[in-house]
Amino acid sequence: MSLKDRCPVIQFNDLGDERGKLVVVEGGQSIPFDIQRVFYIYESDDTVVRGQHANRESEFVLINVAGKSKVRITDTHEEFIVNLDQPMIGVYIPKMVWKDMYDFSSDSVLLVLASTHYDGNEYIRDYEDYKEIMRREAK
Ligand code: TYD
Repeated sequence: MSLKDRCPVIQFNDLGDERGKLVVVEGGQSIPFDIQRVFYIYESDDTVVRGQHANRESEFVLINVAGKSKVRITDTHEEFIVNLDQPMIGVYIPKMVWKDMYDFSSDSVLLVLASTHYDGNEYIRDYEDYKEIMRREAK
């Protein structure tokens, strides 16, 4: 399966009407895991790169609920970029996939849904280490 197929862009239903928009995301339904943790990133700008890690245990869905950002996704073999520029789309990032979030608009609010509680030990934050682990695991 290609990396893009493993990291699908999820289109959420817009239940909006004349009163405004309403988007529902439900764990185990449109989100392919039970949501254990939610965090959001704002007041980042176009000079910073966030993320810069892979996770041994956690799966994520990233949604720009306001503004825009981009996420570069790689497994060291393939790489692609998702423009998170609408509140009704999200991108699923499975375990052991590297992500960099960048190009945040000044009004960006990046919502992150995670399948685990936070454990700093499951983060791989050094890209050289990540490459080495991926190389070993491919054997
Ligand atoms: P970091 O992983 O660098 O954020 P991002 O991936 O969004 O760029 O996290 C920044 C700090 O916040 C770091 O000290 C770890 C802490 N943190 C938690 O305590 N819990 C969490 O769920 C997250 C995502 C981060």
